[in-house]
Amino acid sequence: MAVREPVLKGVETTDDADRDLRPQRMQDMVGQREVFARLEIAVDATRKRGGTLGHILFDGPPGLGKTTFATCIPRDMGVAVQIASGATLAAPKDLVPYLTNAEENSVLFVDEIHRLPKAVEEFLYPAMEDFRIDIVLGDGMNARTINMALRPFTLIGATTRAGLLSAPLRDRFQIREHLDFYTVDELTEIVVRNAKKLKTEIVSDAAKEIASRSRGTPRLANNRLRWVRDYVTSKADGRVTLELAHAALNMQGIDRLGLDGQDRRYLETIARVFHGGPVGVEAVAHTMNLATDTLEDEIEPFLLRTELVIRTPRGRRVTAKAFEHLSLTPRLPEDNQRALF
Ligand SMILES: Nc1ncnc2c1ncn2[C@@H]1O[C@H](COP(=O)(O)OP(=O)(O)OP(=O)(O)O)[C@@H](O)[C@H]1O
Ligand SMILES: [Mg+2]
Repeated sequence: MAVREPVLKGVETTDDADRDLRPQRMQDMVGQREVFARLEIAVDATRKRGGTLGHILFDGPPGLGKTTFATCIPRDMGVAVQIASGATLAAPKDLVPYLTNAEENSVLFVDEIHRLPKAVEEFLYPAMEDFRIDIVLGDGMNARTINMALRPFTLIGATTRAGLLSAPLRDRFQIREHLDFYTVDELTEIVVRNAKKLKTEIVSDAAKEIASRSRGTPRLANNRLRWVRDYVTSKADGRVTLELAHAALNMQGIDRLGLDGQDRRYLETIARVFHGGPVGVEAVAHTMNLATDTLEDEIEPFLLRTELVIRTPRGRRVTAKAFEHLSLTPRLPEDNQRALF
């Protein structure tokens, strides 16, 4: 089958900065080996058998490769892809053009699928299950419903919040994959490869340094690499050494764990203002003047993963490791302190 470039229709959910370093094929992706192995089998079997790949749901924190997988898969399959975002599909009628335009066996990628309103979700069920939709024509006395057949397609959904998806929607995905943070070795490989793409010379220690300060996240590794490249181009001869990488990252306020100013402000808010917690996430968000979603989606996952903060039934609590990292002495009630150390 001829390999086609995906047709990008609808909302482009990725920015330019992401696009030029984004792997084009699944086999060019680094890490997520188990996810890759399972998807490769599904893609290969579908290709051999002919027909339509089962619907796929990706979930995981931002910047870990959900969109990358979702755009590599149609390329690997040689099928067209349409891209939409849950945030812009306000009513079933917004989804109709995507469904009726979908070519046979093509992919419809719906990013932020947890933001689909209930009515749109329900409209999607028969489309996913039987490739049919019910369209209401006219209104009032003249309204009538027609049942329309669709060409079989693959829905790929991506979300940072699998927990917000309703069970019926989640169950209609045959393949569900959770993307987890990357290891420093995996991120080092990404940095080395991308430095080459950016025509930037980098010593291996510096690549590892950038990787270990990227919070397990390829998008951040790419952003940090770009910044370091700018820094060495402006301040030195364009070659990235360990010292220059250090200096560049320090200048951005990125510490040795890869936390940036906002991550530290989050930890400090709980540590100082709330005496280490436990504290509800809403209270922290209010104090920081940030949306709760931003905290939960972008800041907390890595801090939870690295055990700088823990979730308890009574709210968030920072750990001894966080106090140590912030060079703070806990000012806590006695019993809290005992629980922490
Ligand atoms: N496995 C990987 N190998 C190499 N690079 C990767 C990989 N995963 C992600 N990247 C890089 O990180 C960038 C961000 O990834 P991507 O856009 O797929 O994240 P996402 O999970 O969709 O995030 P969001 O939730 O914010 O939409 C990509 O442009 C790509 O350059
Ligand atoms: Mg994405």
